[in-house]
Amino acid sequence: MTKKYNRTLVTSALPYANGPVHIGHLAGVYVPADIYVRYLRLKGEEVIHIGGSDEHGVPITIRAKKEGVTPQDIVDKYHEIIKKSFEEFGISFDIYSRTSSDIHKKTASDFFLKLYNNGDFEEKTSEQYYDEDAQMFLADRYIMGECPHCGNPNAYGDQCESCGTSLSPTDLKNPRSTISGSAPVMRETKHWYLPLDKHESWLRQWILEDHKEWKSNVYGQCKSWLDMGLQPRAVSRDLDWGVPIPLPDATGKVLYVWFDAPIGYISNTIELLPDSWEKWWKGEDTKLIHFIGKDNIVFHCIVFPAMLKAEGSFILPENVPSNEFLNLEGDKISTSRNWAVWLHEYLEDFPGQQDILRYVLTANAPETKDNDFTWRDFQARNNNELVAILGNFINRALVLTQKYFDNKVPQLNELTDYDKETLKEFADVKNVVETHLNTYRFRDALKEAMNLARIGNKYLADTEPWKVVKTDMARVETILHIALQITANLAIAFEPFLPFSAKKIREFINMEKFSWDQLGRIDLLPVGHPLNQSDLLFAKIEDETIEKQIQKLLDTKKANEASVEIKVAPQKENVAFDDFAKLDLRVGKVLECTKVPKADKLLQFLIDDGMGKRTIISGIAAWYKPEVLVGKQVCFIANLEPRKLKGVESQGMILSVENSDGSLSLIQPTTEVNPGSQIG
Ligand code: MF3
Ligand code: ZN
Repeated sequence: MTKKYNRTLVTSALPYANGPVHIGHLAGVYVPADIYVRYLRLKGEEVIHIGGSDEHGVPITIRAKKEGVTPQDIVDKYHEIIKKSFEEFGISFDIYSRTSSDIHKKTASDFFLKLYNNGDFEEKTSEQYYDEDAQMFLADRYIMGECPHCGNPNAYGDQCESCGTSLSPTDLKNPRSTISGSAPVMRETKHWYLPLDKHESWLRQWILEDHKEWKSNVYGQCKSWLDMGLQPRAVSRDLDWGVPIPLPDATGKVLYVWFDAPIGYISNTIELLPDSWEKWWKGEDTKLIHFIGKDNIVFHCIVFPAMLKAEGSFILPENVPSNEFLNLEGDKISTSRNWAVWLHEYLEDFPGQQDILRYVLTANAPETKDNDFTWRDFQARNNNELVAILGNFINRALVLTQKYFDNKVPQLNELTDYDKETLKEFADVKNVVETHLNTYRFRDALKEAMNLARIGNKYLADTEPWKVVKTDMARVETILHIALQITANLAIAFEPFLPFSAKKIREFINMEKFSWDQLGRIDLLPVGHPLNQSDLLFAKIEDETIEKQIQKLLDTKKANEASVEIKVAPQKENVAFDDFAKLDLRVGKVLECTKVPKADKLLQFLIDDGMGKRTIISGIAAWYKPEVLVGKQVCFIANLEPRKLKGVESQGMILSVENSDGSLSLIQPTTEVNPGSQIG
């Protein structure tokens, strides 16, 4: 694309305010977006970075119910936590606002109305599950029932977490409402749909033909959506949390969260620039870039553009450089399983060390495929790269200047061929870094920046000023002059990636600010320029520190394994007392107990039931050896219809309890009672 742009509008996906943020968020969206905007700012370009919390949607209402508070309480709490984490990690938003703001409600509501009045929606009535006790329509997550695929009795209306199948609520057997516990009924409800099918042809042209330069993972996902054929999508929901549908007869209906959230980018821009926001969203000379994670691709490349196009006055994104996912130590990051490195916890354990994480997450970013974060890699990258290359070079340059030249920039004397070679090599770096940054290849860009430090490190190692000092002071002046100019260049090159460290370097060399265009020059520090006292930029991370983090994750894993077991089956429907009284429950004494031939699971009991003897077959052979049960008391149902099992008639049922791991345990009275005694 050779379009001429005068400004860049960068948005970062609005995270759901129902939990804190973790390294996956940073790596996927916020660090790359921040690198990009810092780079543009450093170039002196006109750019704004829009962020905020996504505060609507069903999961927030579920969390609120669980905690016994309102959805507003939940989002108030997490909005603050998330905002603080971003600030602490130097994610430089021009605004970080929220979708529960009044400006947003008005903007989203007006946007809907404009489309509604244009006739851009289709109205459809469909049947959905309704909870008559709670008097509400049920979102998919509010319905549970039996999974038709694996039989899990606690599958959700949108997914079975046992077998991973995605479901729709009508797939569930015996559905029940998680709000009231009652069985939901089907009821008609009206919703508004964005007819994506009608947008398909221009979307195909715009993405598949005009934006072949999009990242392959993004382009590929769009292509497969388009090839499957687009369907109308509902933009409203029956829910009491969200932006109300601004129409009469729409009580209890709100905008679907994926309709209102991206409009949040616009609302937050209006909040930031009430008088000049329009040029950012409507000016043909504005370049709009969305930074997102891969689960957001369809919404940002297809649905939101269709909304913007339907509205008519907005520009479309120029690029959507989505990342894939970051895993943690080989497993998918999961909030519910607490399998994550939370940003606020990282800072407790590594105070002031934001840049290490920014570095590792960029060096290892999931740019075109999923990637893995491991603590060992974190340690290795810090010790072998940040400490041994970047930190080491800068420290040597500064300490030697302190020692030999009273902490002032020495003069440049005659250059050797080797000097010229080094300078040439490092002058080339700027172009390479830029090309990578312009095409959203942040890993490669960082590698090149690090290459600059490598060049410097090698230069000092090869020229050995600490030895030359004994014979040729003029040579040492030149070497350190060059080393200090490289140091200044590092402050520029690393500013987008490691803003905290770049600032420190600038403090060491006593320079307030640089611009990107100065990168590659060797006259950044004038001769005689006084430097400040320096300090180590990075410190080695010991094994012990890393082992502690790994242990923390192992503990999480153990806790998860333990808690998987305590899934409690939901309570069954009430029964009348009379029905219960029909059951004849008694205690008996085991006279004989043997294995049933050709049936691994079954034991055959002969029971003294106080009235005589009876035979009962029970499926507990996996958990008891028959001989140890002889003489024991057991509880049984005496009036269950007899049935034949493996050719033997079973006259009742022995009561046992199923533990969460599936094992069975017999039920016994705590003191000896007479055979035939009734339970009740
Ligand atoms: N909250 C969504 C998520 O975390 C992202 C919303 S992005 C927006 O997946 F565009 F809708 F704001
Ligand atoms: Zn299942």
